[in-house]
Amino acid sequence: MSHLLTIADLKELARRRVPTMFFDYADSGAWTEGTYRANEEDFADIKLRQRVLVDMTDRSLETTMIGEKVSMPVALAPTGLTGMQHADGEMLAAQAAEAAGVPFTLSTMSICSIEDVASVTTKPFWFQLYVMRDRDFVRNLIDRAKAANCSALVLTADLQILGQRHKDVRNGLSAPPKLTLANLFDMALRPRWCAAMLGTQRRTFRNIVGHAKGVGDLSSLSSWTAEQFDPKLSWDDVAWIKEHWGGKLIIKGILDEEDARMAAKTGADAIIVSNHGGRQLDGARSSISMLPRIVEAVDGRIEVHVDGGIRSGQDVLKAVALGAQGTYIGRPFLYGLGAMGREGVTLALEIIRKELDITMALCGKRRITDVDGSVLAR
Ligand code: FNR
Repeated sequence: MSHLLTIADLKELARRRVPTMFFDYADSGAWTEGTYRANEEDFADIKLRQRVLVDMTDRSLETTMIGEKVSMPVALAPTGLTGMQHADGEMLAAQAAEAAGVPFTLSTMSICSIEDVASVTTKPFWFQLYVMRDRDFVRNLIDRAKAANCSALVLTADLQILGQRHKDVRNGLSAPPKLTLANLFDMALRPRWCAAMLGTQRRTFRNIVGHAKGVGDLSSLSSWTAEQFDPKLSWDDVAWIKEHWGGKLIIKGILDEEDARMAAKTGADAIIVSNHGGRQLDGARSSISMLPRIVEAVDGRIEVHVDGGIRSGQDVLKAVALGAQGTYIGRPFLYGLGAMGREGVTLALEIIRKELDITMALCGKRRITDVDGSVLAR
C-alpha cells in the first residue's frame, strides 16, 4: 500500500479492478467533459500563502457541518450505483466514513437500501433525495429515511432531466446495466470484482425495487427510472419536502447567486455549490470558481458547502478559505472503493486528511476553524 499516496494512485488501481462500464460511469462528465475538467483544473489556479515560524503544534481539523461535529470538513457525496464499484459499496463506504468521523450521504439511486446502510452503521447518515414524479414513492422514501434515523436530507436540485455522458451510452450503461458480450468479457477479466459481486444479495436498486409502484423486479426498473425524474420540480416543492421531512435540509446543485438567495429563503440549513461533478450542464462554470460569489450572495444566512473536483487536502483547504463550511468528495471515494473496498475509502480519506493537515500547518494555521481568505495568495 506504500505506493498508494494520492487519489490519482487509487484511481489507477480502480481502473484495473472495476469493470470498464462502471469505472467509466464514475470517471466521466457530460458531453465534452469541459465542466468536469474545469472542476479539477480551477483549483490549481488558486495559490496559497506560505507562512513560517508559527507554532504549529496541537493542530485540529475538527469543525461542524450543519451543526454536526466532523473530524474534518469533508463528507462523502451521494453517488448512484456505488454498489457496482464494489459489492456492498454503500455499506462499506458508510462504515469507512463513520470510522473516520465524516458524514456519509446515501443516494436515492444507490444499490444498497437505506435499511441496508442503517443495519451496518451506528451513527446517523445523510440521505440524498431525487424527487420523482411518483410523489407517494417520494413521501415513502422520506419516511424510510426518518425511520432509519438519517440526520439530514440532501435534496438534489440539478437533475430534473438527465445530462448525457457519452461513455455511458457507448458502454450500454442503463438501469439495470445491459450485459452485452463485450461487457461480460470485460467483467471476466476482473475476478476480484466478480467474486465479491457474486457473494452479495445486493445487486439492484434496493431503494426502488419492491418500493415503487410497478417496480417489482429488474425488468420494469429501466423504463420506470427513465420516466421518473420530474421535470416539473420547482421551488414550491421544496416547501412540502421540508415540511414532510421536518429535519435538517441541504439543497444540492446550486451554481448561481440568484438560486443561492432563493435557497436561503426556503429555510434550508445549507446549500451545496455543485454542478453534479460536471455530469449535468456541460459548459457551466466550475464549482470552486462560483463559490466566492455564492458565499457573498448568501451572506451568512445559511451554510455554504461545495463539491466538484476536490482531489486533495489542498483543495479542501482552498474551499474552506473561500468560505465553504464543508466539502464533499464523490469520485475520490469511489476510486478508493473500487480499488480496495472499505479499506480504499478509508485510505482516500486518510490521504486527504494528511494533505489537509500539512497544508494548513504550512500556511501558518493550527485550526481549520481559523482558516480564512488570509491563507490565499491573491
Ligand atoms: C454522482 N453525483 C450524484 N449526485 C446526487 O445528488 N445523486 C446521485 O445519485 C449522484 N450520482 C453520482 C454518481 C457518480 C458516479 C458521480 C461521480 C457523481 C454527484 C455527486 O454527488 C457530486 O456532486 C460529485 O461527484 C462531486 O464531484 P467529484 O468529487 O466527483 O469531482
